Amino acid sequence: MQDYPLVLVRNLYKEHSDASLKDGTKVLVEGWVRSNRDSGHIGFVSLNDGTCFKCLQLVYDETIASYEVARHLSTGEAIRATGVLKLTPEAAQPFELRIEEIESIGKVEGDYPLQKKFHSLEFLRELPYLRPRTNTFSALYRLRSELAYAIHSFFHERGFVYVHTPEITTNDAEGAGQTFKVATSGKDAFKEFYGREVTLTVSGQLHVEPFALAYRNVYTFGPTFRAEKSNTPRHASEFWMIEPEMAFCDLKGDMKIIESLIKYCIAYVFEHCPEEMEFFSTRIDKGLKEKLEKVLQSEFKVLTYTQAIDLLKEAVKSGVKFDEPHIEWGMDLASEHERYITEKVVGGPTFLIDYPKEIKAFYMKENPDGKTVAACDLLVPGEGEIVGGSQREDDYEVLAKKMEAQGNKEGLEWYLNLRKWGGCPHSGFGLGFDRFLGYISGVTNIRDTEPYPRTYGSIKY
Ligand code: 4AD
Ligand code: MG
Repeated sequence: MQDYPLVLVRNLYKEHSDASLKDGTKVLVEGWVRSNRDSGHIGFVSLNDGTCFKCLQLVYDETIASYEVARHLSTGEAIRATGVLKLTPEAAQPFELRIEEIESIGKVEGDYPLQKKFHSLEFLRELPYLRPRTNTFSALYRLRSELAYAIHSFFHERGFVYVHTPEITTNDAEGAGQTFKVATSGKDAFKEFYGREVTLTVSGQLHVEPFALAYRNVYTFGPTFRAEKSNTPRHASEFWMIEPEMAFCDLKGDMKIIESLIKYCIAYVFEHCPEEMEFFSTRIDKGLKEKLEKVLQSEFKVLTYTQAIDLLKEAVKSGVKFDEPHIEWGMDLASEHERYITEKVVGGPTFLIDYPKEIKAFYMKENPDGKTVAACDLLVPGEGEIVGGSQREDDYEVLAKKMEAQGNKEGLEWYLNLRKWGGCPHSGFGLGFDRFLGYISGVTNIRDTEPYPRTYGSIKY
């Protein structure tokens, strides 16, 4: 094979867009065949090298020595090729590679499950180790990577300190009893290693709050685990969460940051993943881009929980059918109720605030009415809740009483101490990363937005 410099397809498109790509450049490429069309004397390979969403068209003809190799390349095969770049401004693709030599690096056996045809998301879900090779998933997981980077860059630009909170913990932060116990594979299991029972974390919040009271603005971003027996498109037992925590910040300030973060991320993926976003908007969720553009232009609606209950009662009266039609103040809203509010009533992202204290976690700040807490959930069309946040209870006495009543004071004395040693009003939230990706891409099943989903009753390798 000729000794031409290796190029990445991503860089070819970059050079093309800044007009520095030269006709006649000799290059070597490596990648996988997406399709191969041989029409007698001439053939076309669509090559994806993984470095960008777009493919590179390779053109070969019967004059090259490796014509027989080229002709028999099949979908999925790993190849290496050399050739000369040709600018083709009048064609569908702006340039192509005229092949001089082509070599098969890794053949594909006849039982390869991916073919050059449409495969459903359900079919591909059975093949998590192969699906990143398809258009949809290659777009989705690159978007996932860019979105994670966007989140870090949002906080970094604003001086937030990134804190790594632990995965193994002694507390159930949300107090919902949905933890996974961690044990060694030894006989004495649970207490053997640490001398006490430990679990996988359901939230980094309690561990990140002390850092907010030292650095002012912090966040954690990592995997969290919940043994929730919910078999829905939005629940996984392992998911990633972004949890910022801000000192000297109340619920209003909290919601401001949530809204700016969501908008920043949308603008970021528009700028950095234009091909992927175009693909999702035309092939997965028609009009997705326009919908997200609209979100960028508008202000998020704020409703109180009490207003939401009234709206739901009216909806039932006017004939809207819910699986749970009995609406009363104090109930926990189901996903169908949340979606009705954000999709049918508002038609965009909606904050619900001031929830009854009985249905929210112990650490939320009690409002002066004595009945509700300063909490906010952000609901979005297609997903329902993607963010749960609140101002934290900073009154030592109130919090101590609540924790005693709930029976979680023991072991969390350190958390309570923060309220008597330089405490201040502070707030934070948790953004579910996998749901957020669903919202941004229009791929709304968490079994797809997570590369290796773990859901109730299902885990594949
Ligand atoms: O509302 P949650 O339970 O809030 C907390 O964990 C707080 N400690 C956050 C904080 O204030 N620091 O969860 C936050 C978000 C939800 O809005 C949802 O997007 C996501 O985490 N989430 C899940 N995502 C996928 N699968 C699950 N089982 C999820 N449970 C929560
Ligand atoms: Mg929640």
